[in-house]
Amino acid sequence: MKIAIGSDHVGFELKQTIKAYLEELGHEVTDFGPFEASRTDYPIYGEKVAKEVASGAYPAGILICGTGVGISISANKVAGIRAVVCSEPYSAKLSKEHNNTNILAFGSRVVGEDLAKMIVSAWLDAEFEGGRHAKRVEMIRSIENE
Ligand code: RB5
Repeated sequence: MKIAIGSDHVGFELKQTIKAYLEELGHEVTDFGPFEASRTDYPIYGEKVAKEVASGAYPAGILICGTGVGISISANKVAGIRAVVCSEPYSAKLSKEHNNTNILAFGSRVVGEDLAKMIVSAWLDAEFEGGRHAKRVEMIRSIENE
């Protein structure tokens, strides 16, 4: 799968680790930065990755900041984005199955490398179930038009 990835400075090291992990799994990963760990601002990268996903260029995005909160809030400001911030695999899986999330976020100050990999795998392996959930996801989309 083509995956867009981004972080802020706090999430930079974990981004490098997760990028390598995704490549090991056979995914095609594009890194939207940052490319060094100096201080920066999470909305820059949340917006970049979100716009790539919203455009359809990438079916999935992964974002990492200190908590995953700021960068997911930023991504969710872009129309068509359903970004979830997760610190365990169960919510990651259900967020895909029920909410059809297209961006996964987590925090490098919250989860370690192994847990982050489990969260990523749970999210990527899950599939949207459609059915009754499709109507609700459509209701979310309609809020964007209000
Ligand atoms: C940066 O200090 C920190 O605020 C950021 O990484 C993130 O946790 C924000 O939600």
